Amino acid sequence: MKSGMIVSRFLLLAICVAGLTAGARGGEPLERMTPAERGYHWLTTKAYLPPDFDDEVFDSLWKVWPASLQEQAKSATPAERRKLAFSRYGLIERPGSDGTGPALGYLSDGKGGWVMNCLACHSGKVAGQPVLGAPNSNFALETLVEEVRQRKLQLGRPLAHLDKGGLTMPLGTTRGTTNSVMFGVALGSLRDKDLNMRRELKVPKLVHNDADPPAFWNVRRKSLLYAEGFAVKSHRLLLQFVMLPRNSGETLRGWENEFRDILAWIESLEPPRYRWEIDQGLAQSGKVVFEQSCAKCHGTYGDAGRYPNRIVPIDEVQTDPLRLKSLTTGRRQDMRDSWFGDYGREEYVVDPQGYVAPPLNGIWASAPYLHNGSVPTLWHMLHPSDRPTVWRRTEDGYDRKKVGLEVTVFDRVPGDVKSAADQREYFDTQRSGKSAAGHLFPDELTEDEKQAVLEYLKTL
Ligand code: HEC
Ligand code: HEC
Repeated sequence: MKSGMIVSRFLLLAICVAGLTAGARGGEPLERMTPAERGYHWLTTKAYLPPDFDDEVFDSLWKVWPASLQEQAKSATPAERRKLAFSRYGLIERPGSDGTGPALGYLSDGKGGWVMNCLACHSGKVAGQPVLGAPNSNFALETLVEEVRQRKLQLGRPLAHLDKGGLTMPLGTTRGTTNSVMFGVALGSLRDKDLNMRRELKVPKLVHNDADPPAFWNVRRKSLLYAEGFAVKSHRLLLQFVMLPRNSGETLRGWENEFRDILAWIESLEPPRYRWEIDQGLAQSGKVVFEQSCAKCHGTYGDAGRYPNRIVPIDEVQTDPLRLKSLTTGRRQDMRDSWFGDYGREEYVVDPQGYVAPPLNGIWASAPYLHNGSVPTLWHMLHPSDRPTVWRRTEDGYDRKKVGLEVTVFDRVPGDVKSAADQREYFDTQRSGKSAAGHLFPDELTEDEKQAVLEYLKTL
């Protein structure tokens, strides 16, 4: 009996691991997988980038932690230490993991190296549970890279691309948000319109700003991608993340079909269902209010739902303008006229002048809100004048009353918070690009109507 249980547990584990390494259906040959299954297979098994660090560096990162945490790590078992590290950097165990090797969001290069993939930013925990395609709102990329670099220098190891990149530009000034749009601009400036490396260097103008990744499950409803909705949805755009100079134009273009599959996987994702009870009567009245006040921008939901892909002028939405300004019309034109935009055949919105009103499916699970991730809950979205100036989240807490992140609120970042890593734990809406102002549309609702809309939003 007992050995039978062990055997079946082992089998289950083996199947899970096979599922991760050989595609969504364990061991299935590639030709028999659906495009979406192949997409997940590429994402979780193929290294499109060089490794960022290896097991030895990762397992000893605690040696560069602040004193009190280091003390804790010193007396911990390796498993407990790994938990501390995952928590510090916002990493998640792969499903079926045996507690060694790369986190979800990285894959192994077969030699102990951790290679970052899309899931590092695009899969996160919601109320403590991993959800594929949810924004990783815990990811502390800059702190991770900073400490990896420090540890590598101690060990006399060579620095990798992010270790060096992080010395020339900010990677992400708050937990959960990253300067990804500027990574794309910096890497894109090295290439011509066919993605071949340029001979002369063109120094790009970088306007650093942090963005909160949108939930992957809404990509299928969109025809225009990114915060300002300028780019016509295409698998080619997804290659921006793997444009490191070591990948030649030919190599990148050669990966096109794999990225078609990756987009198919992204578009196959369903929004997660709200996990707790919903007051259906209240939600029904919220639906009526939503359809009057919000649907013209955010669309309608259910089987016959329609989504307008509407770009709302910045003067009307009044949210932080830095992300919009960070890409110029010229830069968007260059992208359209290159391989990304099929040499101008795609109809990009090169001068969008505002932000897209995103679909709100699964919105309960994609806090924080707005393109810069400045608003911690849906209640705060509905009560613009009560949004916190400075907030700090807990790792796994979920605020069911306000619907979103469990946070502590401050007037300003406490004076004794000194190190850069500690400062990144506080979302300070007074900093450049981080304002939580605007989107005042809910102000036209009564308090009762807001409560009803809040309940309805849980059902999407
Ligand atoms: C370092 C974090 C990070 C990584 C890694 C990353 N992304 Fe993103 N991604 C973002 C952020 C932030 C945005 C939002 C950018 C914006 O619109 O301002 C984004 C936007 C997107 C969008 C547009 C979504 C929408 O609704 O408009 C897609 C699609 C996407 N990423 C796919 C990918 C794929 C595929 C990969 C891997 C090849 C990847 N990303 C890797 C952070 C990341
Ligand atoms: C005139 C168009 C418009 C109306 C009306 C409108 N919104 Fe929005 N909404 C937007 C835009 C544009 C954004 C994105 C702004 C940004 O990210 O800076 C947005 C963002 C949001 C977000 C955050 C989405 C995310 O993924 O972060 C929520 C939630 C939201 N709106 C809810 C509502 C509700 C509820 C109503 C009705 C009371 C409403 N909106 C009315 C245009 C609108």
